[in-house]
Amino acid sequence: MRAAIAAAEVGDEQKREDPTVNELERRAAELLGQEEAVYLPTASMANQIALRILTEPGDELLAEENSHILLSEQGGPAVHSGLVTRPIAGTAGRFSPDDVRRLMRDRTSMHMARTRLVSVENTHNSSGGRCWPLEEIDAVVATARELDLRAHLDGARLLNAAVATGVAAAEYGRRFDTVTLCLSKGLGCPLGALVATSSELAWKARRMKHLFGGAMRQAGIVAAAGVYALDHNVERLADDHARARRLAEALHEAGVPIDLEQVETNFVQVDVEPLGLTREEALARLKEHGVLLSTTVWPTKLRAVTHLDVTDDDVDAAIDAVPRALGAFARA
Ligand SMILES: Cc1ncc(COP(=O)(O)O)c(C=O)c1O
Repeated sequence: MRAAIAAAEVGDEQKREDPTVNELERRAAELLGQEEAVYLPTASMANQIALRILTEPGDELLAEENSHILLSEQGGPAVHSGLVTRPIAGTAGRFSPDDVRRLMRDRTSMHMARTRLVSVENTHNSSGGRCWPLEEIDAVVATARELDLRAHLDGARLLNAAVATGVAAAEYGRRFDTVTLCLSKGLGCPLGALVATSSELAWKARRMKHLFGGAMRQAGIVAAAGVYALDHNVERLADDHARARRLAEALHEAGVPIDLEQVETNFVQVDVEPLGLTREEALARLKEHGVLLSTTVWPTKLRAVTHLDVTDDDVDAAIDAVPRALGAFARA
């Protein structure tokens, strides 16, 4: 990837003269089943631009209550697009057509905000990197269409879902009006994301890219990392998933509280509450044993992530260290 970055052909991307950015956008649009894709610095910006181009101020956004868009983008839907947000109580990050139907506001009302957009997150971060089955996405999007709602897919980790389920990313992506993809997570780029959509909406997205301060210059320097990642780092996501599964099963066997059903991609969530620890105590003990986990939206759950810098040996080391650090007892 460093070599690809060093060799990148560049131009002024604001004038659409950067061949590497153009190539990345062309590849991403095809991958995500859309007409065009717009290169952006981050997936948060990609999500926020998608919301902005699909709505008017005062519209209402429906999204799962623990979705990144609602929880981790600092109220961006209200700040950047003037949206009212309505959380949907989900299970494993998913919700049903009935949920959408139930929450839909009366369009004939002179008083209520107009429900306009439904957002789906796949994989779903806070539920532990879980995937949406394609049939469930189909059902939710069909209901959205019937109700004249627009549909956004926060697919920051869509390629993890595609690799885990065997469903092509384009099959998920083409069903939506807008799709976000992040390059700086499992794909291993230093930065970068895309929002993919129709050509008509992509024009609006390019205008918003300027407004949001995301229009760059010789961005081919970093877009080259994205092209490299699409060539080399997609299929290997299966290795991350296999390592996460091995880690989860071994830790569970050693008595570490893990819900194995949750482990569908590259996250393993550890609940430290049954061990009588706070997450701060657990993090400190893990650090002493050389293992770094992160916090989650759940007060007692920590997250282990496998990615392209985590090897089989690292997983073995974690399998050895985590139960000792947390004082877990073998189930056997
Ligand atoms: C589902 C989801 N969407 C969007 C983002 C935002 O990504 P970025 O940090 O590139 O803005 C994240 C980050 O964790 C995420 O998990």
